[in-house]
Amino acid sequence: MSFNHRSLLGLRELTDEEILYILDEAKAFRNILDRDIKKVPTLRWLTVMNLFYEPSTRTRLSFELAEKRLSADVVNFSKSTSSIKKGESLRDTVNNILAMKVDMVVVRHSSVGAPDYISRTTGVPVINAGDGTNEHPTQALLDLYTIREKFDHFNGLKVTILGDIRHSRVARSNIWGLKKLGANVVICAPKTLLPPNPDVFGVEWTTEIESALKDAQVVNVLRLQLERQQAGYIPSLREYRMFWGLTGERVKLLDPDHIIMHPGPMNRGVEIEPEVADADDSVILRQVTNGVAVRMAVLYILARKLKD
Ligand code: CP
Repeated sequence: MSFNHRSLLGLRELTDEEILYILDEAKAFRNILDRDIKKVPTLRWLTVMNLFYEPSTRTRLSFELAEKRLSADVVNFSKSTSSIKKGESLRDTVNNILAMKVDMVVVRHSSVGAPDYISRTTGVPVINAGDGTNEHPTQALLDLYTIREKFDHFNGLKVTILGDIRHSRVARSNIWGLKKLGANVVICAPKTLLPPNPDVFGVEWTTEIESALKDAQVVNVLRLQLERQQAGYIPSLREYRMFWGLTGERVKLLDPDHIIMHPGPMNRGVEIEPEVADADDSVILRQVTNGVAVRMAVLYILARKLKD
């Protein structure tokens, strides 16, 4: 199986075979994470820069851990402690980093297309760790891995993505990936939090939470970005919780054999009730564990292409 990309910018550009190839590779790395010694020497020749222009807990730490588990050298850059504070541009920042002989860049940025820009202007492999409202491919890959771990397939599974679809890069990457793998994707949000033209995704969309949840095998609850309330997208957090929150009662609508997912960070008591987030059918922390293995697989696949 070949992977025909130098960078991982999004799932929209991957084939179903390429996505499954990453998930298959991730399985081997997931086994390593269960060993006493979780480190392998595979990428000890590689230097990776983690370039985070936006806050992150899971993605940044997960990439750093994945890189260290593979014995790569790791350099972390965060906006708040860098010369961006003195007005340095993205282009100059990246060129200076590359002058220090970095082999690969992981980037999170608030602007759509920033990872693509770095990839095109430098020729260095880039992994998109989330760009604006566009894509968050490694989050979707770890979500896919977690779904496959439970059901062993995607064909015909009803996967409901619930919440702020309009502003969510996680939703977009999940939609592109799940569609390619044959899942039946339903997106559900209040009208104001659906994209202006939801038909562009080519999936079922609805504003009716009961029908969205009915008989779903997977529900992926998205974080309500709290600043949306100030921007007038929702009347209040209390109403959002009442009409759109995943409660214990609403969980009863799902297929009896289901999983509950959330990419984090969660607003407990807003988009998801604490007892739902912590229940046995919740795989939220499994997603985080699987994320390290999936990121190890992506790093390994792209690094191997550097040696081709
Ligand atoms: N899921 C996710 O992207 O979380 P972080 O913002 O903490 O990285």
